[in-house]
Amino acid sequence: MEPPAQDSSEARTEEAPTTDNDFFATVARGAEDVLAEELAELGAYEVEVVHGGVHFAGSLEDGYRVCVGTRIASRILLPLDRFEAQDADGLYEGVARTQWTDHLGPETTFAVDVAGKGTAGPGKFVALKTKDAIVDVIREAEGSRPSIDKIDPGLRVHVHLSGTQVTVSIDLVGRGLHRRGVGRTGGAAPLKESLAAALLRMAGWHRREGEELVLLDPMCGSGTFLIEAAWMARDVAPGLRRGFGAPGWRAHDAKAFARVIAAAEERKAAAADRPVVLVGVDSSEEQLGHARDNLKAAGVTDAVLRHGTLADLEPPEGPPGLFVVNPPYGERLGEAGELGPLYSELGDVLKRRFPGWSAWVLSGNRALDKRIGLRPASKRVVMNGPIECRWLEIPIGEQAKSGGDGPGWRKASAEAEMFENRLRKNHKRLSRWALQNETSAYRLYDADIPEFNVAVDVYGDDLIRVEEYRRPKKVEEEVADRRLRDVMLVVPQVLGVRP
Ligand SMILES: C[S@@+](CC[C@H](N)C(=O)[O-])C[C@H]1O[C@@H](n2cnc3c(N)ncnc32)[C@H](O)[C@@H]1O
Repeated sequence: MEPPAQDSSEARTEEAPTTDNDFFATVARGAEDVLAEELAELGAYEVEVVHGGVHFAGSLEDGYRVCVGTRIASRILLPLDRFEAQDADGLYEGVARTQWTDHLGPETTFAVDVAGKGTAGPGKFVALKTKDAIVDVIREAEGSRPSIDKIDPGLRVHVHLSGTQVTVSIDLVGRGLHRRGVGRTGGAAPLKESLAAALLRMAGWHRREGEELVLLDPMCGSGTFLIEAAWMARDVAPGLRRGFGAPGWRAHDAKAFARVIAAAEERKAAAADRPVVLVGVDSSEEQLGHARDNLKAAGVTDAVLRHGTLADLEPPEGPPGLFVVNPPYGERLGEAGELGPLYSELGDVLKRRFPGWSAWVLSGNRALDKRIGLRPASKRVVMNGPIECRWLEIPIGEQAKSGGDGPGWRKASAEAEMFENRLRKNHKRLSRWALQNETSAYRLYDADIPEFNVAVDVYGDDLIRVEEYRRPKKVEEEVADRRLRDVMLVVPQVLGVRP
C-alpha cells in the first residue's frame, strides 16, 4: 500500500505557503532519503538531500512542526549566516555581523557547538571565538553580557565549518532529537531512537496502515524498535513531551509552538486505539527489565515481552508481520567468530518458522551477514554511531522448509564445487603434514582459486578462521557475497565442524 498522500494544506495554518526560512536537518548517514520523505509528509517545502542532512524551507511554524514530528532527524538548524573565514579574525568578524540581539540577550544562557573542519581553527577554539563575538555584540548593545551554560543552555548556537566556509545557525532542538523526553534506562547496546525509526521506515512499517500490524523483535534489548513502532503506528509525535529546545531564543513564537503541539495531540488521540501487535523477546532478563521500564515510560502498555532465545522463537498468532532484529555484532576482536552460530541459527529460524514474513536484520559485520545464509533482497548502508552497518531485507518465502531443525535447506551454489574439491584436497594433504610435524595450527587454503578470495586457517579440531581478502573492483559485490556465503557453507562440511 502506498503512503497516504500528504495534504500539507491541512497540516499548515497559513493559507499561502511562507518559505521565509531555510532550515537544515542533520541525520545519521544513510538515512537522508527516508528523512526527506518524512519531512515532506510533515509539510516542509523545497526538501533537498545532501550528504549527512536535508535542507528544507518553510515558515517558523513549519520548522516547529518538524521539530515536534520528526522521528529520524538528529537536529534542526536554522542558519542565520554563511560567510568565508580564512582564520580566527575572519571568524570573529563574520560571527559579529549577525544581529545577535534579535536572538538572545543578557537574560539568555547559551552554548556554542562546532561541527566539521575549517581554516578558522580547531573546534574548541572556534567555539571560544564565536562565544566571544556574540558576548561582545550583546554587551555593546545592551550593557551586560549573557552567560554560558554548556549543559542546559537557553539557546544553542551551531557553527559548521567546511574549509573556509562557515555557517552559523540556531539549534532549534537543544539536546538532540533522538531523546524522546520520556527517560530511558540502560540496554546492552541500545539503538538510538532516531536510527530505529529510520530503519523501521526503510522496512516500510509506516506503510502498513490499515493492515493488521504485527511486529516482532526477537532480540529486543531495551525495547527501542517496539517503542518507535508503537509511536509510528499510533501517530505519537516524538516531540510531544520534549518541550521546545531553545526556550531562551528571543525570536521564539510560543503561540505557534503551542498550535503545533495541540495539532499533534489531536492526531495522537485519533490514532490511540489503532490495533498493533508488538512482541519483544530477549534471552536476558536484565534487558527485558529495561524494555519493560522503557515501554511503560513511553506509554506503550500493550507490547508483549517474553524471555526466550532465538532457538525457541515462534511467530505470534496472526498474519505474517515485520521481523526486525539488531543482533550483537561483536565489535571486539575475536567476538565476531563466536557469533557465527547465532547468525546461522537466525537464518534457520527465519527460513523454517516465519514463512511470508518480511525480515530485516541490522548487521555490523559482513562475515556474519553471510552466516545467515539467506540472500538479502536489498541492503542499506547506515551509520550506527561510528559503526558502518547494513540493514538487510530478507523476505521469507511462503513455503517454510520442513524436516529437522538443522540447516539442511542451505545449499552452496554450483560454482562452489571447485572450492569444495580444492579444500578437500588441501585438507587431506595438510592434515597429514600437520600430524607428522606435531602441529595443529596451519593455513589450509589461501585464495588458491582466485574466485574464492579467502584464507582459511585451522587451529586444532574445532576452531577454524575464515578471512576474506579485499574484493577486487572487477568483481561485483553481489558475486563476492554469494561466494563468501558458499565458503561459509562448504568449510564446516569439509572439516566436519559445527557451522
Ligand atoms: C545489540 S542488542 C539489541 C539492542 C536493542 N535493539 C536496543 O535498542 O536496546 C542484542 C540483544 O540480543 C540479545 N540476545 C543475544 N543472544 C540472543 C539469543 N540467542 N536469543 C535472544 N536474544 C539474544 C541480547 O540480550 C541483547 O539484548
